[in-house]
Amino acid sequence: MIAVRTGLGWDVHRLAPGRALILGGVTIPSDLGLEGHSDADVLAHAITDAILGAAALGDIGMHFPDSDARWKGCDSLVFLRHACQLAAAAGFRLVHVDSTVILERPKLKDYRLPIRESLAAALDLPLDRVSVKFKTAEQVGPVGQRQSAEAQAVVTLAAIAE
Ligand code: C5P
Ligand code: MG
Repeated sequence: MIAVRTGLGWDVHRLAPGRALILGGVTIPSDLGLEGHSDADVLAHAITDAILGAAALGDIGMHFPDSDARWKGCDSLVFLRHACQLAAAAGFRLVHVDSTVILERPKLKDYRLPIRESLAAALDLPLDRVSVKFKTAEQVGPVGQRQSAEAQAVVTLAAIAE
């Protein structure tokens, strides 16, 4: 078996009033929040897809369809933990996550540590293996006009030694 695998994840959700802005399991004070069937945690979804991708286990919608009432309003850290369990069953453990959230406002940098801590706990990783970065879209396009937010993630899995 190849010992190391890389996975790529991306997600987008609409921004709307009256919704919570939850990123990596952390609720961030904001006038606009993320819309979706689950809690719409765009960062958790991108990382979940990256884990599934690295293990060639499909994508988040295959495992957690938004037509399923079980996932309505669901804490997306549940998806993350489940993706890790699926990867483990396929013989891989997560060793590193890098990610970027693209959101025009609010500023997120003061929330970097709580988001990293929340993800590290959900993924059972040490803090120094969980990276979270933030970018604006320079007021350009739907993200820049605060219609949506995006997240990207790259994860590394290693084969579990027999
Ligand atoms: O997008 P831009 O390059 O202007 O972002 C500059 C810095 O602002 C980023 O490196 C990041 O630390 C921070 N940032 C943030 N919250 C955002 C977007 C960017 O804290 N929503
Ligand atoms: Mg999503």
